[in-house]
Amino acid sequence: MLLETRQLSRTFGGVHAVDRVDLAVAAGQAFGLIGPNGAGKTTLINLISGHLRADGGSVLLDGATVTRLAPHELTARGIARTFQGVRLFKGLTVFDNVLVGRHARLRSDVVRRLVPRRSRADPDRERAMGLLERVGLRRRAGALAGELAYGDQRRLEIARALASEPRVLILDEPAAGMNPSESGRLRELMRALVAEGITIVLIEHDVGLVMGTCERVAVLNFGRKIAEGSPAEVRASAAVREAYLGAEDVA
Ligand SMILES: Nc1ncnc2c1ncn2[C@@H]1O[C@H](COP(=O)(O)OP(=O)(O)OP(=O)(O)O)[C@@H](O)[C@H]1O
Ligand SMILES: [Mg+2]
Repeated sequence: MLLETRQLSRTFGGVHAVDRVDLAVAAGQAFGLIGPNGAGKTTLINLISGHLRADGGSVLLDGATVTRLAPHELTARGIARTFQGVRLFKGLTVFDNVLVGRHARLRSDVVRRLVPRRSRADPDRERAMGLLERVGLRRRAGALAGELAYGDQRRLEIARALASEPRVLILDEPAAGMNPSESGRLRELMRALVAEGITIVLIEHDVGLVMGTCERVAVLNFGRKIAEGSPAEVRASAAVREAYLGAEDVA
């Protein structure tokens, strides 16, 4: 397995935000993570990406324990993520936000940092522009990130995450704030990334997007994993229907 959690847990006060969760994500898979508001999805991702400390259990990448590593160390090992509440450098250009994402992976490269900016990193700049093209933001490269519409900021977050050349890309509600044609393009982008061998973990309230993109889906409720399987299996699960009272969300 490329990415695993074993009995991963985190409490806040008395709340079991993530409660003994086992996940196993195979290399090259698109893995969906769904669950009602407050189910623990973002907390689980924060534990995996090193943005929160676990109080129990472990995270493994390629079989090696990475539970205590800092976010930048996990980035260097190939885990990249976007944030539910977009975290961009709003005063930097769209282009520079992507370059910063690339730097996150290469920060230990001292020589690169010592080379004067102008002569540096043409391949990086070309690659950054290529990523902006992929997410449909090439023409906005010179705009300030803070000036972008919300859906565009979400796409820029994906380009920034991709700039670190991840093996695993974790997306926390990437379609939030996107219109149907934007989320359709997002679906195409995710398919293309998987075809290139990137493993995706997708958190989404748009269950149709998850079911249409992911081969495997896990469902959280009150911090516990209540179901896991193919989209069809998860749809058929009584526990899932109950968690989503009304059940229309997963129908
Ligand atoms: N930093 C924090 N301090 C205290 N409680 C927290 C913190 N982060 C999350 N929680 C609590 O942990 C639980 C899980 O929250 P989390 O944000 O992980 O859920 P989620 O599944 O991502 O929800 P949503 O779909 O609304 O994004 C909730 O009860 C939440 O209030
Ligand atoms: Mg969340």
